[in-house]
Amino acid sequence: MYPGYFISFEGIDGAGKSTHIESFQKLMQERYPQREVVMTREPGGTSLGERLRTLLLDAPMNLETEALLMFAARREHIAQVIEPALSAGKIVISDRFTDASFAYQGGGRGLSLKKLNELEHWVQGRPNGVLLQPNLTILFDLPGEIAEARRSKVRAPDKFEKMDLNFFEKVRQEYLRRAKEDPKRFYLVDATKTPDLIWSDLKKLEIII
Ligand code: TYD
Repeated sequence: MYPGYFISFEGIDGAGKSTHIESFQKLMQERYPQREVVMTREPGGTSLGERLRTLLLDAPMNLETEALLMFAARREHIAQVIEPALSAGKIVISDRFTDASFAYQGGGRGLSLKKLNELEHWVQGRPNGVLLQPNLTILFDLPGEIAEARRSKVRAPDKFEKMDLNFFEKVRQEYLRRAKEDPKRFYLVDATKTPDLIWSDLKKLEIII
């Protein structure tokens, strides 16, 4: 679809993806010195998107408003950052993308998957009818209780991090359902392992660009 390569990192809060994403960026840069590696995140990645992020992570809001704002931020992110970078042959690494909307707004909060599918097609649909999706999604998977114990050790929780165990179990199940639906795109990381073991798994991951 594009000469570039698009990688997303996903997982429930506390799964440990942030620990590895920067090292992974460095690894990609070493492996592909001739390519620029662009690091970005969702919600966010543009100045408008970062303003929406502040609202989304702080303010309680109607579920549909939340989903629409997530996808509005994503539309801007695709238009301003992701598509231009992929068109220029760059490697884009995004800390979360659309699977997070299915997992959090769909699985966790209960928005219908039909509506999420419609938003996904609206925001990621290309003129040729093909959806813009990551080439690879690295999903950090672990039980909700372990993630909860890890989260309690870190900084003050945002709106989502304050949710209960039941919410995170539903988020996790939706991530796993998405992974099962598109197994070629997903690489599952057993996030119960130690950071060292996870890192050696990530280093072994074969990426053909
Ligand atoms: P996160 O990526 O975990 O950043 P940090 O590590 O700085 O906390 O925070 C983003 C939060 O937003 C996370 O709780 C998941 C949530 N989120 C959604 O609910 N829907 C989405 O579509 C996206 C992209 C994120």
